[in-house]
Amino acid sequence: MTASITYPELTTIVEGGTKIFVPSMSLHSNIATKREPVFFNSAAELNRDISIIAYRSFISNSISGHNRNPKNKMNDIAMADSLCGTGVRGLRVAVEVPEVNQVYLNDINPLAIDVARKSSVINRVEDKCYFSVNEVCKFLLDLANKSKTSSGTDQEGKIDKIRRRFTIVDLDPFGSPANYVDCMMRSVEDGGLVSITATDTAVLCGKHPEVCLRKYYGLPLNNSYSNEIALRLLISLIALTSSRLGISIYPLFAHTNMHYIRFYAKVVLSKKQANKVFTNIGYLQHCFHCGNRAVSVVQPGGGTCELCYAKFSTAGWLWIGRIYDKDFVREMVTKTLPLQCDGSIQAYETSGKATMDMDNKSEDNQNSCKKKEGNNLEKIQKRKEKHLQKLFASCISEHDDIPYYFTSDEIASKLKIGPPALTSIIESLSKAGFRTSRSGLNQTAFKTEAKINEIVAYFRS
Ligand SMILES: C[S@@+](CC[C@H](N)C(=O)[O-])C[C@H]1O[C@@H](n2cnc3c(N)ncnc32)[C@H](O)[C@@H]1O
Ligand SMILES: [Zn+2]
Repeated sequence: MTASITYPELTTIVEGGTKIFVPSMSLHSNIATKREPVFFNSAAELNRDISIIAYRSFISNSISGHNRNPKNKMNDIAMADSLCGTGVRGLRVAVEVPEVNQVYLNDINPLAIDVARKSSVINRVEDKCYFSVNEVCKFLLDLANKSKTSSGTDQEGKIDKIRRRFTIVDLDPFGSPANYVDCMMRSVEDGGLVSITATDTAVLCGKHPEVCLRKYYGLPLNNSYSNEIALRLLISLIALTSSRLGISIYPLFAHTNMHYIRFYAKVVLSKKQANKVFTNIGYLQHCFHCGNRAVSVVQPGGGTCELCYAKFSTAGWLWIGRIYDKDFVREMVTKTLPLQCDGSIQAYETSGKATMDMDNKSEDNQNSCKKKEGNNLEKIQKRKEKHLQKLFASCISEHDDIPYYFTSDEIASKLKIGPPALTSIIESLSKAGFRTSRSGLNQTAFKTEAKINEIVAYFRS
């Protein structure tokens, strides 16, 4: 006896410039869960906006010769949305990044692919979209292993065009991407781009260190900058997996919130470059007693804090290199607009709702759904643009070679004083000769070469 599958009631929404069929129930529940017949998380709209901006930046850099391998033809740009759900990310690429001429949408859930196919039709991009119902690694590797010239279809006739490797591969799983990193790296072309989400933030931020060590080969720390440690653990897993395959990665952009970590990297097939991976892998030592931080390129054998002699806690191994390509992010700044739909598309065709996760505080709360209506839409759009410009500006100015940050709240509350303004902290420490900047991963934080005792001296002055 086969279990009957109920087709979900659908609603169309508009995200960016793209119409998407989504299950009506996903708009009426506050938290997106695995149990929905087709997964859709309206709270991830900003996350997907950033993808569109990043892919536009990547293609623009490629056209000007900065990114892709020049032997890859610019008229053959293929993106794989390998765990596509409703297909919202891939479909937005098909509509909003017109240089991408093939979008492959895959999900293990046949209902999801049915819904994605319907959305491709209403956006009139069905000719450039290829659909498959497959296990993600099978999807990525089957296509990557077939010759570019071979023709054929998968068993369900869902993929009718065969290519070799993808220009862009997106991996957006439930929880950890660790199971799929090998397949992702094997399926991307030389000079291509990978974008990865990890939503197992509890593991990566230190709640389950043994699970983190097993999945990411590094220990996390549950401290005030655990999101940066989490990102660096994810990058090191991708870099080490890649190096094993003779592939080198170059971080382009990253952002995090309470619920996810998202990372973009350029991929270069080069054993010689991959041999250098360990120049960017190391350890972080953190003193929970005085707040001292230290970077180590070799595994520290325990060790004590040189400032207060308490025992250091260790995170890693993890990525200690840069996390942004500043030119890439500068290009992102120019690619932010237009994100919204054009006038021909009704902002809301139904009474659906969508969310805006404008800052870490509101991102914490998936319940903060706001209805986009009439004039509100313009206001929301302006706030979103402002938020993105602020985020990109912080990333561009960040000293991202320093793999940790400080928050003024953390220091001020220990000293039982009011925190100085972030701008004056950065100005004063810089004047005192310490490289100091904002952090793209926390809008209330600063990065500095100054040690905690030097920062404390400034706070007390
Ligand atoms: C987090 S959702 C993807 C969300 C989507 N990318 C978006 O932006 O809305 C993860 C998706 O992966 C699919 N999935 C889970 N395990 C899979 C597997 N092993 N192979 C292929 N798809 C899988 C689920 O059906 C689900 O639609
Ligand atoms: Zn200490």
